[in-house]
Amino acid sequence: MAKCTVVDHPLVQHKLTLMRRIDTPTAKFRQLLKEISLLLGYEVTRNLRLEDSTIETPLATMRSPSLAGKKLVLISILRAGNGLLEGMLELMPSARVGHIGLYREPQTLAAVEYYFKVPDDLSDRPVLILDPMLATAHSSIAAIDRIQEAGARDIKMVCLLAAPEGVEKFQRAHPHVPIFTAAIDEHLNEHGYIVPGLGDAGDRIYGTK
Ligand code: PRP
Ligand code: URA
Repeated sequence: MAKCTVVDHPLVQHKLTLMRRIDTPTAKFRQLLKEISLLLGYEVTRNLRLEDSTIETPLATMRSPSLAGKKLVLISILRAGNGLLEGMLELMPSARVGHIGLYREPQTLAAVEYYFKVPDDLSDRPVLILDPMLATAHSSIAAIDRIQEAGARDIKMVCLLAAPEGVEKFQRAHPHVPIFTAAIDEHLNEHGYIVPGLGDAGDRIYGTK
């Protein structure tokens, strides 16, 4: 079973507390999400492959490491995933980008797909799936089902908050996909919201409620 890593860095935890607060305004919430995504990005890319090449510094010739292989792919689950995407792209400006549009059907909480566009050649690229919330895990499981169908093999899930029920379901569905999150909260409420959580991530990022 792949691990669920909680990124417990003090800066991440501090920023997450600010994001959770009901009185944090939209602009601040968005800025904090971008800052946290840089820190999560640092952690989730820790094992990227490196290869040495010969370079000239002003003083000498040396062998020095750079990222090996094809460019990484960032896949945002719309719409809240775009809040993580911005910071990740700042960290990895050459990354390829895909989008999967999913919304939760309010009665069943099933993930309904309305958009799918990802790079063609996923099979030999590392892929990061971005969605701040892993609640029932219906959305993240559906997204990974789809990108596996499209050929992806090296996949990691990046979120901000997860529910224990969702983590369990996700790990049963995709036992080889590691999860990176800033926190695992207490439980899901009867509407599938993470408690204590931070509310509806999409609404808080875009100020739609
Ligand atoms: C939210 C969130 C995740 C999903 C998580 O999206 O951004 O995609 O819920 O819940 P799950 O783990 O139970 O599937 P939502 O459906 O509210 O759509 P939005 O991002 O467009 O607001
Ligand atoms: N989606 C959200 O945006 N928030 C939750 O708590 C659960 C799902």
